[in-house]
Amino acid sequence: MASFSAKVHLRVVESSAFGAASGALVADTLRQKPDAVLGLPTGNTPIPVYQDLLARQRQGLDLSRARVAMLDEYLGAGERRISFFRWLQEHFLEPAGIGPERVLRMPSAPLAIESACAAFEAQLAAWGGCDLQLLGLGLNGHIGFNEPGSPQDSHTRVVPLSQITRDANEDYWQGEEVPEFGVTTGIAVLLQARRLVLLVNGERKAEILRQTLEGPISSAVPASFLRLGREVWVIADRPAAVHLSPASMQPALDATVTPS
Ligand code: GLP
Repeated sequence: MASFSAKVHLRVVESSAFGAASGALVADTLRQKPDAVLGLPTGNTPIPVYQDLLARQRQGLDLSRARVAMLDEYLGAGERRISFFRWLQEHFLEPAGIGPERVLRMPSAPLAIESACAAFEAQLAAWGGCDLQLLGLGLNGHIGFNEPGSPQDSHTRVVPLSQITRDANEDYWQGEEVPEFGVTTGIAVLLQARRLVLLVNGERKAEILRQTLEGPISSAVPASFLRLGREVWVIADRPAAVHLSPASMQPALDATVTPS
């Protein structure tokens, strides 16, 4: 059975330790660089990570200079309720005291969206790029809104959302209809992050995590491109790791790769 490159640091943890194990990596980045640029996702997976970071802040972690770049958004979100920006504000930015001047918001207005996407990337580059990019994993292998078929050289752009993604996203909005298009940071931009952290929990993600780490690197499973990143971490809880091969699991149990 295939296993992935040693460059990918896999940590498999108890579900109860998922937030803390992931938060430790973010805290480590911020200790090295207090004004680090953090690429942040929305969704159910990162909620325990944001809760862990807020707890660390109460215990002294300095977030006063951290900068945040959004990962993705719905086209047309604007000030509507169904908006990843609003979601991120509520779950992390506001409680952490990270104001708009330190947030690079993903554009969402349909008019002139292409130039707004280029401006987003230019501002990210002006900030020095992402120091750490957190990512959730879609059921179909998407990262951000890079749906299957997204090429390795893709940039920030509008994408049509698949039905499986729209259905999964309804969960965030109490069943309200999810927009047909998203705006996402492209794969090429994600791969420039100095540290990539893929967060995966729950058994329903086990098969797509196996394909992500042990299958071919291909646009059929966009998350597989992460294996080409500069420094790649995968934090998985035990249920998400059940289909990984013993060869993949071996380094995962090596505590020496864990930053405190
Ligand atoms: C969504 C979002 C992604 C998110 C992923 C996983 O569609 N566009 O940014 O990371 O799917 O979501 P969840 O963590 O809720 O499973």
